[in-house]
Amino acid sequence: MDLTLKVWRQKNKEDKGGLVTYPVTGISEHASFLEMLDVLNEQIINKGEEPVAFDHDCREGICGMCSLYINGEAHGPDRKVTTCQLHMRMFKDGETVHIEPWRAKAMPVIKDLIVDRTSFERIQQAGGFISVNTSGNTQDANSLPIAKPMADKAMDAATCIGCAACVATCKNSSAMLFVAAKVAQYSYLPQGQVERKERVLNMVDQMDKEGFGNCTNTGACEVECPKGISLEFIARMNKEYLGASAASE
Ligand code: SF4
Ligand code: FES
Repeated sequence: MDLTLKVWRQKNKEDKGGLVTYPVTGISEHASFLEMLDVLNEQIINKGEEPVAFDHDCREGICGMCSLYINGEAHGPDRKVTTCQLHMRMFKDGETVHIEPWRAKAMPVIKDLIVDRTSFERIQQAGGFISVNTSGNTQDANSLPIAKPMADKAMDAATCIGCAACVATCKNSSAMLFVAAKVAQYSYLPQGQVERKERVLNMVDQMDKEGFGNCTNTGACEVECPKGISLEFIARMNKEYLGASAASE
């Protein structure tokens, strides 16, 4: 396949940035989107120019780093896949492909296609954990019976990889699908009960401090989420938040 790429290039946070056009040739339809970008970078490096900076780590849909806005969609035109799992067969020979970084005030562009995602880390640090006795007398997890429907819900929420496609695709740059998944996954489990109230209050508080917008129930986040995280979890988080607020007054 031969393609025309329009890639966002931005030297640093302060730079205004803009789209730069690059032709790429000889791309296999079986290549992943990131492999296609590797080919582009080889071509750019061979010309003695600065390669395009983009994030990636696992390249198998686990780490959530490969955050690209492709032809106006977070993670591109396929469904329930990350950018690293997106294949070039989703595009046509001769197509023009626009590649941009996530756009959100709370996730500013650092360079080219890489954004600063430490706001998500600070939200996690505010409550996305459980306290466990690690003295050597740790209780065996299997000694805590968990009803199958509860375990299934917790697992569904825990599949969130923190990629922030939900933020990028939301017209309000809301992070509620991400925060809801992280709050919900512990709320179903006995291990998550000790910090249950503080968790939801602190994580939502941190989300607001970071400058993410509010949810207006559009549902675009659920459509673009590579892990199919359900809007139901936002309803669960809101319920948790109301309960915790009432209890703390
Ligand atoms: S909820 Fe989905 S889109 Fe949002 S961070 Fe988690 S995996 Fe990514
Ligand atoms: S590189 Fe890890 S999810 Fe894409």
